[in-house]
Amino acid sequence: MELPDTIDVKGGFPLEGQVQVRGAKNSVPKTMVAALLTSDLCEIENVANIRDIDIVSDMLKALGSSVKRTQTSLSIEARNVAPSDEEALAEFHSLSRIPVLTCAPLLHRTGSALIHHPGGCAIGERPVNLHVKVLEAFGARVESTPSGYSLTAPKPLKGVRYELSYPSVGATEQFLLAAVLASGDSQLSNAGIEPEILDLACVLQKMGALVTILPDRVIRVSGVERLSGFTHWSMPDRLEAASWACAALATDGGIRVMGARQVDMMTFLNVFRKAGGEFEVDHRGILFRRGSARLRPLALETDVHPGFMTDWQAPLVTALTQANGVSVLHETVYENRLGYTSALNELGANVQVFRECLGATPCRFGSQNHEHSAVIIGPSRLHGSELTVPDLRAGFSYFLAALAADGWSRIHGATLINRGYEDFIKKLQGLGVETKW
Ligand code: EPU
Repeated sequence: MELPDTIDVKGGFPLEGQVQVRGAKNSVPKTMVAALLTSDLCEIENVANIRDIDIVSDMLKALGSSVKRTQTSLSIEARNVAPSDEEALAEFHSLSRIPVLTCAPLLHRTGSALIHHPGGCAIGERPVNLHVKVLEAFGARVESTPSGYSLTAPKPLKGVRYELSYPSVGATEQFLLAAVLASGDSQLSNAGIEPEILDLACVLQKMGALVTILPDRVIRVSGVERLSGFTHWSMPDRLEAASWACAALATDGGIRVMGARQVDMMTFLNVFRKAGGEFEVDHRGILFRRGSARLRPLALETDVHPGFMTDWQAPLVTALTQANGVSVLHETVYENRLGYTSALNELGANVQVFRECLGATPCRFGSQNHEHSAVIIGPSRLHGSELTVPDLRAGFSYFLAALAADGWSRIHGATLINRGYEDFIKKLQGLGVETKW
């Protein structure tokens, strides 16, 4: 179903029923980029129908690949990868963070690549300096251009030992995509170890790469000369699963998330339980519901894996507006991810934001004057309002707040939700939500 841009939803009722989650928004597109490392056929299964996949499909086509889609699978053949066409790539860079990851495969295939100032959600400055440093370490020459960077490299890239100053997800993926076809051995210290990174590492291993994940955030790769095609069932979207879990918590409902996988969500599940949620895991997925009449307040700090994911933060904070007491949040991954709290306050929540680090670990943002901590005083009786979606995860939380509120809310900019949530309105309706547009 095409998502209308303005939607009215009626809140004040428990969401009950089941939803299906498919391949992760933050995993499938990277697997698609990995297909650029070979001219063999690559097949990805369990693919959701979301906008980010369309953007990456169009980008791969613009780079000379064939991309065919059935209902839930993708077949990609990157036989004739062309050197990047600056104008075409610039547009894709403005729509998503994924195009940055094409740098390593394009350097392998064509010897040149481009980075334009990337798009994605506006939740912080989100520079690409770590990607650039990783690629430079592999021997790429990087020149600044008015719109970003132009990169060239002799083939093959040269294996390297490198340490990230911060365990960035994207920079770790860039390292993997560079190291697998580089000459000799490479090693990354202070690497990201998110499940989505491991999913990419599994794909690369299927392609013939030699990747070892060692303790203490170390990844070692022995470069090979050639990679082959793969078939991969993508890991489920743990961000969407947690979003629906928070919807059950906030509305006192019960939602079975089919396809959700416990192992990817252990940190979330602990926090969910501490807040007063209950869950049951079986082979089909996870059933989430509120266990106690009143939710319990929490002290919460986001962090890189295995910490509490930043993408889980907005829906959980929205649910905590219904907790019985004062919750404290410290966001340590993005400096600007609390803007949505002012919209929660418009609906009647009581959330105050602070520049100080209100958590156990002082973070990078404490001395930089960013509002990155919040105090949530609950429970608040929310009432319907008119809201405009600012970014993907905050957008889901606006819907969530509207569903926990009494009466109708009007939400503008709802199409943004389609970047990461498949069949969003259909799922809401299936959970008993009244909608109008
Ligand atoms: N950072 C830098 N320099 C870089 C790269 C990152 O300073 O070159 C900083 C960022 O500004 C941020 C922090 O490092 O403060 C973490 O960024 P990271 O590179 O880990 O994130 P990412 O790869 O850009 C992915 C997801 C995000 C998710 C983060 C953290 C994708 C496409 N995006 O982003 O997902 O929040 O990892 O887990 O995989 C979302 O789905 O809504 C979303 C934003």
